[in-house]
Amino acid sequence: MNETGNQPERLQKAMARMGIASRRHAENLISRGLVKVNGVIVTQPGIKVTDQDRIEVKGKKIEAEDKEDFIYVLLNKPEGVICSVTDPRKRKTVIDLIRKDIPERIYPVGRLDYDTSGLLLLTNDGDLTYRLTHPGYGVEKTYEVLIKGSISSQSLKLLREGVLLEDGLTAPAKILSVRKHNKGNNLTVVEISIHEGKNRQVRRMFEKVGHPVCGLKRIALGPITLDDRMKSGEYRYLKRSEIISLKKEVGLKSDGREGSWLK
Ligand code: URA
Repeated sequence: MNETGNQPERLQKAMARMGIASRRHAENLISRGLVKVNGVIVTQPGIKVTDQDRIEVKGKKIEAEDKEDFIYVLLNKPEGVICSVTDPRKRKTVIDLIRKDIPERIYPVGRLDYDTSGLLLLTNDGDLTYRLTHPGYGVEKTYEVLIKGSISSQSLKLLREGVLLEDGLTAPAKILSVRKHNKGNNLTVVEISIHEGKNRQVRRMFEKVGHPVCGLKRIALGPITLDDRMKSGEYRYLKRSEIISLKKEVGLKSDGREGSWLK
């Protein structure tokens, strides 16, 4: 059980932490009278619970095994925030953005540059972090890249086949889509998936094929995608189904043990 399980916490927060629903969805379930605590329907989201309390959602008891041992948070990282726990230069960190609501120590899974926005996972599950960031597991990361100019089919071919950077040849990338930026400013938006994590890789790949990057946003990590409705700087707990699919992606069973689908 995680560090907060025996501390009283607000019902909707406990439900979100257990991966039952997002906090907003939990509030909605509570206000609709669909949640019981210790057999009593609760319609006030502020009520505090601990792991000793019996919570039922739509008549179904939330079992202890439904509760996660670890915490998994998805942040829509804004630009201008550093992806580490502390910064000697005192710039705002991703931890500063979540600390108010999430007191547990959780860490970013991999890095996004200071000037990159989008999907960032934070967790205290070290095994999953290792597998999601180790190139051997080949987890795809998908980016929406805003570049200068119109990209030629020759440059796209280079990106698909591998670009020679100063630290080696990149593995083949997938180009998912190419479209003109809708503001008529000679910019192009490319959706690209890569499964390596070289430093500033996407920026350097596009620079190398002649298209400096003006904006970079991560929109997916393996099976997890960034929901358009999540505003910059917002975060939420992963749903249980998302945790299971992420673990499955890297050959872990949902209880953290190695599964038969190990790659
Ligand atoms: N590639 C980059 O260039 N920057 C990031 O932040 C992530 C991938």
